[in-house]
Amino acid sequence: MRIGILGSGLMGAKLGTIFARAGHEVVFSYARSEAKLERLARNAGRKAKAGTPREAAEGADAVLLAVHWLRFDDVLKQAGDLSGKVVVTCSMPMNEDDTELVVAHASSGAEELAKRIPEARVVAAFGTVPSEVFFPVYERRRRAGRPSLVYCGDDRKAKSVAAHLIRDVGFDPIDIGPLRMARYTEPFTMLIAQLAYEVKGGPELAYRFERFR
Ligand SMILES: NC(=O)c1ccc[n+]([C@@H]2O[C@H](COP(=O)([O-])OP(=O)(O)OC[C@H]3O[C@@H](n4cnc5c(N)ncnc54)[C@H](OP(=O)(O)O)[C@@H]3O)[C@@H](O)[C@H]2O)c1
Repeated sequence: MRIGILGSGLMGAKLGTIFARAGHEVVFSYARSEAKLERLARNAGRKAKAGTPREAAEGADAVLLAVHWLRFDDVLKQAGDLSGKVVVTCSMPMNEDDTELVVAHASSGAEELAKRIPEARVVAAFGTVPSEVFFPVYERRRRAGRPSLVYCGDDRKAKSVAAHLIRDVGFDPIDIGPLRMARYTEPFTMLIAQLAYEVKGGPELAYRFERFR
C-alpha cells in the first residue's frame, strides 16, 4: 500500500518507519523541518520519501493522522481533498499542555475529525498505546502471544485497511465496532498513559485481551 504520514513526530515517525520496513510505500510529511522528514525517509529505507501533506495524501491508500488536536485544521488544510480516503487517526483530543481530554463521553476526537472531513473514511487505531512500544512489538511480531490493538470506524473497507496495518506492526487487531466507540478508547488511552509514564515500569507497554470460555 501507499501510506501518507500527516505528522511525523513520535507516533508518525515510528509507525511510518515500520510501515516502510513492512513493505509499504510511505511519504513522511508535516514536521517543522524538511531536514527531519528527509532523515526519517532515509532511515526508513528505499520505500520511503519526504513530501508535503498534499503529496502524502495524493494517491495514498491510507493516511495516518498523527498530530496534536490543535494542529488538525492546519494539517487538514495542507493535505487538501481527502474525499474517499482512508484516514487512520491515532490522535487524541488533548488540551494544549496535554493534561486533559477536551472532548469526551458524548463524543470523541475521532468523531469530531470525521465531522470535519465527512467524505473521508475515518478509522481510529494505534492511539491506545504509547509510541515507545511500536518497535518492540514489531521486533517480536513472529512470536506467539501478540498484544491486542483496538480499532473502530464506520466503513468496513477502511477498517480492513487499518486491520492490515495493525497486523503489519505486530498487533492482533480487535474490531470494537463503529467510530463512536472512540469515546471509550480515548479515555482508555489516558489510563494507558498513566501506566506508561506515571507508574513504575516504563512506557514500552501494550495490552492483550483474552476471553475465558
Ligand atoms: N506519543 C504517544 O505515545 C501518543 C500515544 C497515543 C496517542 N498520541 C496522539 O497522537 C498524536 C501525535 O502525537 P505525537 O506524540 O506523535 O506528537 P508529536 O511528537 O508532537 O508530533 C506531531 C508532529 O506534528 C508536527 N508539527 C507540530 N506543529 C507543527 C507545525 N506548526 N508545522 C508543521 N508540523 C508541525 C511535529 O513537528 P516536529 O517533528 O518538528 O516536532 C511532529 O512531526 C497526538 O494527537 C497525540 O495525542 C500520541
